[in-house]
Amino acid sequence: MPIRLAILASGRGSNLQAIVDAITAGALDAQIVGVFSDKPDAQALQRVPEPLRWARTPKACGGRDAFDAVLADAVAGCTPDWVVCVGYMRILGEAFIARFPGRILNIHPSLLPRHKGLHTHQRALDEGDAEHGASVHFVNTELDGGAVIAQARVPVQAGDDAETLAARVLAQEHPLLLQTLRMAAEGRLALADGHALLDGQRLYTPLPLVSVVH
Ligand code: GRF
Repeated sequence: MPIRLAILASGRGSNLQAIVDAITAGALDAQIVGVFSDKPDAQALQRVPEPLRWARTPKACGGRDAFDAVLADAVAGCTPDWVVCVGYMRILGEAFIARFPGRILNIHPSLLPRHKGLHTHQRALDEGDAEHGASVHFVNTELDGGAVIAQARVPVQAGDDAETLAARVLAQEHPLLLQTLRMAAEGRLALADGHALLDGQRLYTPLPLVSVVH
């Protein structure tokens, strides 16, 4: 059975498109059961057929906690195996996370634990990092703080600005996310005591992105 993915997204949705394309190509044994957004005009929503789209604003729901509860009910209603945050720009509350224990993933554009939060590319440049990249991690209540599963590294090049660096990272994000979701689809990933497990073994360092040359 394909794994059931609920996707949370607030923006452009290029990572979501990579998932859609991989499923279509038979390269990921998964099914998208819903795309959920706090931004009704998010481009990400347009990447799936209308019946799979869900959007509410926190304001319309009566605030942050109420929004989280409505969102959690809607996501749970799709009975996902995994909840995947791809450019979801809100922090998930404790109550939401408790509904899907060890089953929420996020992709973040930095080599965690460096540069949690926003503006990661500019911060990597400002701090003179020689290397930058992206991480896929389990979501806990700490912003970008859950156990890291896999990372892709890119060099920072002379003359880079936040835009060129972001583009170089994004090109690695898509295969990194798919590599991680394939492991999830194969039942190889778990979270135990706050640690990421692969095949039942604790990951002491994040898995590198494995580039496959076709
Ligand atoms: C990506 O850089 C992702 O790592 C970050 O937000 C961006 C979303 O891009 N969390 P997209 O919406 O998937 O194109």
